[in-house]
Amino acid sequence: MKKEKSIEFLNKAIADELSAVHQYMYFHFHCDDQGFDLLSNLFKRTAIEEMLHIERLADRVLFLKGEVELGTAEVVQKIHDVKSMLEKASKMETESANQYNVWANECSKNADSATKKLFESLVDDEERHFNQYDTELENLTKFGDNYLALQSIERSKTLTAGRPMGEQL
Ligand SMILES: [Fe+2]
Ligand SMILES: [Fe+2]
Repeated sequence: MKKEKSIEFLNKAIADELSAVHQYMYFHFHCDDQGFDLLSNLFKRTAIEEMLHIERLADRVLFLKGEVELGTAEVVQKIHDVKSMLEKASKMETESANQYNVWANECSKNADSATKKLFESLVDDEERHFNQYDTELENLTKFGDNYLALQSIERSKTLTAGRPMGEQL
């Protein structure tokens, strides 16, 4: 097993995941600011899942006696338009899933089956994330501004009913 290769892939994946955490939290803040609770919560929940991916990747780096590099792969894009947010997020998930598939194959060639399995398990999660964003994108395309208006109305109802907002994880 060429463990240096696995450590390199794992650290690149950590950088990718960290970029996703930053980007999704940025989207979370801006959806929240615009009153879109459903999307705001979706971005927050996904950011938390990506953070848990970082933990699993870092555990594997340490098991292989490597150093965990906490760099980011990409700077946060200052997108405020909801459709562009969902397009960007879908693209990030597709790229991650594609990249993790490639690294799973590389790890298999290097006889590192545990790292291969880790990447394969992350592919499942990233494809699920893609599907969630893609569904929202389809809703937005199908229902247009009504889709966003409904989310704002839901928030107003919550506010006027005096129920606490926010933590809807
Ligand atoms: Fe992830
Ligand atoms: Fe993801």
